Amino acid sequence: MSTVPGPAGHPLLGVVPAFVADLLGTLEATFAEHGDLVAYRFGPKWPSRTVYGAYHPDDVARAMTDPEVFGRDTAGFKVIRESIGDGLLTLDGETWKRHRKLVQQLFTHRRVMGYTALMAEEAAKIVDDPSLRSGTVDLHDLMQRYTLRVVGRALFGDAIDDIVEELQELVQQLGELSTARRLQLFTLPLSLPTPRNRKLRDVRRRLFAIADRVLDLPSDPDADDLLTRLRGARDEETGAGLSEQEIRDEVLGFLLAGHETTAGALTFTLHELGRRQDVQADIAHATDDTLVRATIQEGMRLYPPAHSTERITLVDTKIAGYDVRAGSQILISPWVTHRHPDFWPNPTAFDPARFLDGGPTHRYAYIPFGGGARACIGMQFALMESTILLKTLLRSYRFDTTAHELSVNPLLTLRPNGPVRATATATTPQPV
Ligand code: HEM
Repeated sequence: MSTVPGPAGHPLLGVVPAFVADLLGTLEATFAEHGDLVAYRFGPKWPSRTVYGAYHPDDVARAMTDPEVFGRDTAGFKVIRESIGDGLLTLDGETWKRHRKLVQQLFTHRRVMGYTALMAEEAAKIVDDPSLRSGTVDLHDLMQRYTLRVVGRALFGDAIDDIVEELQELVQQLGELSTARRLQLFTLPLSLPTPRNRKLRDVRRRLFAIADRVLDLPSDPDADDLLTRLRGARDEETGAGLSEQEIRDEVLGFLLAGHETTAGALTFTLHELGRRQDVQADIAHATDDTLVRATIQEGMRLYPPAHSTERITLVDTKIAGYDVRAGSQILISPWVTHRHPDFWPNPTAFDPARFLDGGPTHRYAYIPFGGGARACIGMQFALMESTILLKTLLRSYRFDTTAHELSVNPLLTLRPNGPVRATATATTPQPV
């Protein structure tokens, strides 16, 4: 049985110090050195614990579409479940199936189209934001406020201004604490009162309190928001719905999975656009959405908001020609696969035209929203929301980011390190 190649790592800690120092840089470098399957040792050589990075689109496709071989009950998802409960993202098996069937009804194309008016209203508010009028702007702060207001209004029919700040702070803390927990060699039970566990439990308590507060708002049973629809959703065969507790976990999942990712996609795309005045002008003058879509897709190729995900092998299998035992953790990294040189010529260049000429040659070379049965349920929603915002913004402003470097931090989602600054200059508004 040939051994999967990988970095030697620290004698006692393995790859952990390198992952803590620079996760994405380490993944890229080890992929360049070792190829499509890389073995990462966590901790000492014995007892050894290995995570396999699978980077080739063929292997990503199998991991995402063959639930008989690749399961979801991984250490990383366990940490997320401990923090945000049992929503679609963290459920597995029959319960996941039941939830997905019900929640799916809320995200059909027709339903998502029903939210475009509120997205356009919120985008228009962003255009009038005082920070834009002042000329220098923090793109990330602006985009977080936009995506939170949009998901808040779509979910509850109401703006959630009073929780925006608290949620922004909690999401940052949750990302830092759960990433640190994920990289611990020995994960202590969350119930043990270590300083980090206490903080994580406090964040969890405050997140659930927010979800409860929102669920307690007086509701109109005829309203057209996601929460009312979720409460009314029934399984066609059994007639069963979700309990209030299940709904609370789903709502928290939407709030978290549904704003941070889209805010990142928009922020990173705008940062890159700030170096391409030509593309900004083309988008502002475009008569349809083709170019703006391609630009967002390219932004998410270079900066996939869900930069990594995981699966676990349920049986012995082969990956990239190597034998991999049942129970192995598999790391899937859109960050690395989106830079795979066999599928992306000149991979580090920002070039929206890639998506105008038919896009990637392999479906699983491009996986910002995952794939298979567990693909992102909010994909259409996120794409619609991003398209509307970018179009609206570029009709009124030009951005320049050439004086500012972008540095990213791979927490639960890909976040910028600190503010993402841009100079905004008002233009003569383009006709709609
Ligand atoms: C640009 C924005 C977004 C990105 C990049 C993104 C990315 C992803 C990815 C990669 C997955 C699959 C993870 C895996 O297979 O391991 C996923 C799942 C999910 N996403 Fe998104 N997402 C975005 C926006 C949204 C929005 C707006 C919502 C909801 C309002 C949402 C809700 C979910 C849920 C509930 C799941 C779990 C689906 C399941 O397992 O059945 N996401 N997302």
